[in-house]
Amino acid sequence: MPLIDDLKMPLDDEELSRREFLGWLGGGAMAVAALGTAITAVRFMWPEVLFEEQTRYRVGKPEEIPVGTLIAMPEQKIYVFHDRNGFVAMSAVCTHLGCLTRYEKENDRIFCPCHGSRFSTDGQVTVGPAPKPLPRLLLTLEQGVLVVDAAKTVNPDTILKV
Ligand code: FES
Repeated sequence: MPLIDDLKMPLDDEELSRREFLGWLGGGAMAVAALGTAITAVRFMWPEVLFEEQTRYRVGKPEEIPVGTLIAMPEQKIYVFHDRNGFVAMSAVCTHLGCLTRYEKENDRIFCPCHGSRFSTDGQVTVGPAPKPLPRLLLTLEQGVLVVDAAKTVNPDTILKV
């Protein structure tokens, strides 16, 4: 009966021995671990940062906006109206259930398409069901340009006189 050792074939010079194979395998594992560590270190140096949504928007120069003009900025969800007393900024979000209103130039009014509320160009409710006027937003003059901060509401009587 032949022994197992008798069945072994001689290794060619080109073939890897078990010891060499395990050496390569260990080296490969070490390389993968080192690469993972390097990637983790680089990501630590440049962390993922969540930037806050922009809330401040430049509207334009007040002298270029005639009295009676309503500027609609639907993407920013704001209106700026030049009243004869000054400028007001308002949210374009309906006070009923939060739909986005739109300015109807032909009727010179703000209209909510969801349930039909209507607002005057200074944001007062003219037809419900909206329970309150459109919220006034902080409007400032910065280096000669009107700037709205959509994140800051102000007193409903606030008017920026320029
Ligand atoms: S959400 Fe505007 S009228 Fe209902």
